[in-house]
Amino acid sequence: MLPTIAWRGRSVVMIDQRKLPGQETYVCCRTYIQVAQAIEKMVIRGAPAIGIAAAYGLVLGVMAMTAAAGRSLDRDFEKVYKRLERTRPTARNLFWALERMKAAYERTRAQGLRAIRAALLAEAKAIEIEDAEMNRAIGRHGRVLLRDGWTVLTHCNAGSLATAAYGTALGIVRAAVEEGKRLRVFAGETRPFLQGARLTVWELDRDGIPVVLITDSMAGWFMRRGEIDAVVVGADRIARNGDTANKIGTYTAAVLAKENGIPFYVAAPVSTIDLSLADGAGIPIEERNPDEVRQAGGRLVTLPCVDVRNPAFDVTPAAYITAIITERGVHRPPYEKSLGGR
Ligand code: MRU
Repeated sequence: MLPTIAWRGRSVVMIDQRKLPGQETYVCCRTYIQVAQAIEKMVIRGAPAIGIAAAYGLVLGVMAMTAAAGRSLDRDFEKVYKRLERTRPTARNLFWALERMKAAYERTRAQGLRAIRAALLAEAKAIEIEDAEMNRAIGRHGRVLLRDGWTVLTHCNAGSLATAAYGTALGIVRAAVEEGKRLRVFAGETRPFLQGARLTVWELDRDGIPVVLITDSMAGWFMRRGEIDAVVVGADRIARNGDTANKIGTYTAAVLAKENGIPFYVAAPVSTIDLSLADGAGIPIEERNPDEVRQAGGRLVTLPCVDVRNPAFDVTPAAYITAIITERGVHRPPYEKSLGGR
């Protein structure tokens, strides 16, 4: 299994996802600011992995605090919390993990820094371990949806690299393959950061799962030709009614799937669901640096100053989603009811 992120002594080590598949190098973060920057620069990415990284970032922040009582400790904690919270706005798992860490802080706050540090490290490790377990459960629930011999389209990377291990969308693929089904994955390249071309292809190739790379704009054509049997993607945030934010391009794939009568599945842990949002309209969508679009592989592909839009995510309305698979099972519409929002 791929090592996405690990706690080592007094530091957090992450595989550098900007460099894959060309180089397998690791980034070692010793401060919470380094962790925040690693999330922003996409050294680590993918909603669950971002949450785990932020949890360990908070541990590093607390490790660096000096013993001070009461309000000043709270102020220091809040500063670290706020910095990590500011890194990427869309993934619900980031805020979920930070809230969980804050609850651990509040439970141990009165016992002093030593106890707080131990409690926070234990909580971050629990978040990491539980994530890997949840992905296995998502895989077990979702594998029945994929039939032997199918070709499955996925978008972005919702695999080991986006989680503690195993993956969500790719977890379902892995679980189906583990039970003997022969599957083939079409990986959309996922412009501009190329998570599909660089990460999903690398991961599946390492696991010996047949993978075919296509550009994002080819998906509709392959669907029309009957070459794609199902679409499985991950999620960054799911509203109460099932509207789902995921990597830009997901909405397009969902509309094309519906038009062509192909099931469209979303795989995510319950920590991605935001029951405070009635629908997708309230999901904050991150806009990233325009140079990501102006360039490909670090080289300029257009005029250097051309106006650019670069939303990192889109929202797929629930009406396009055949089912949402979480560690609790396969949720069907109406999602308001099946996701537990009502
Ligand atoms: O910008 P990224 O690479 O963090 O976007 C990742 C995605 O959109 C994933 O599909 C999502 O986070 C689910 S990962 C299990």
